[in-house]
Amino acid sequence: MTGKLEKRVAVITGAGSGIGAATARRFAKEGARIVIGDLSGKRADAVAGEIQATGARVEWLKMDAADPDGAQALVWRAMDAFGQIDIMINNAGYAEVAPLEEITLESWNRVLAVTLTGTFLGMKYCLPVMRRQGSGAIVNTASISGTAGDYGLSSYNAAKAGVINLTRSAAIENAKFGIRVNCVCPGTIDTRAPQLLGGDRADEIRRRQAAANPVARMGQADEIANAIFFLASDESSFITGAAITADGGLTAHTGLPPFWRLGDSA
Ligand SMILES: NC(=O)c1ccc[n+]([C@@H]2O[C@H](COP(=O)([O-])OP(=O)(O)OC[C@H]3O[C@@H](n4cnc5c(N)ncnc54)[C@H](O)[C@@H]3O)[C@@H](O)[C@H]2O)c1
Repeated sequence: MTGKLEKRVAVITGAGSGIGAATARRFAKEGARIVIGDLSGKRADAVAGEIQATGARVEWLKMDAADPDGAQALVWRAMDAFGQIDIMINNAGYAEVAPLEEITLESWNRVLAVTLTGTFLGMKYCLPVMRRQGSGAIVNTASISGTAGDYGLSSYNAAKAGVINLTRSAAIENAKFGIRVNCVCPGTIDTRAPQLLGGDRADEIRRRQAAANPVARMGQADEIANAIFFLASDESSFITGAAITADGGLTAHTGLPPFWRLGDSA
């Protein structure tokens, strides 16, 4: 690896699994000190232990990204341990599947609280630190589900659309303070989340999701971590307010069938 995050401190929510964990591992390899926040202390501890074994410095905290006290505590943990925050990755998200008319208010509120309010809180509490430092990079994990609709995911669609536009507002407000704010829009990534959402049909849904992608496979968490690393590093120094899609070509397609036979590939 390149050591491009040497001397940086990175805080990552939802880093006990999937995309967040892959991002924590990647950042540590690049020389960053890591602070992991996750609803599951067990998962956070496991990822932290794995990273620590490589010689990197890492802290973890069991917290709920939707809870202002949890979001604030994560920032304090980073400041207590390392005295600075250079990178904030607001990655925790939550979805429930139901047709719109069957979504309970409780379910709607929880999806919005974790996915959208959690992103807001993560930025709210790290921005004063970054402004004092005069620099910082924030990357929010949005989704292609924030740019178009999915059957049965309307609360998640609304929350992720909010994350994308919140990213833009945060970017323009903070550009003059040396802080960049961007988001990634992953497509279908092979993590625990789609497994949980798919329930007893998870394997069939994974196969169908892979087949829907022009690249004919699901993405891997590492492939999203690479995009997050780019946006968090100085490699993207002129990029702010952007939403970078990493979806194996899924949203490049109108969805129409081919107008002529392309053989077995289309
Ligand atoms: N997997 C996909 O296909 C996909 C696609 C687009 C976007 N995303 C987004 O990527 C992000 C990460 O998802 P993933 O696929 O890696 O899922 P994952 O289930 O593998 O990991 C999510 C982690 O977040 C933690 N978490 C959940 N709610 C939390 C909360 N309130 N506070 C703190 N931690 C919490 C979980 O404990 C878990 O460790 C989410 O925002 C998700 O919406 C995922």
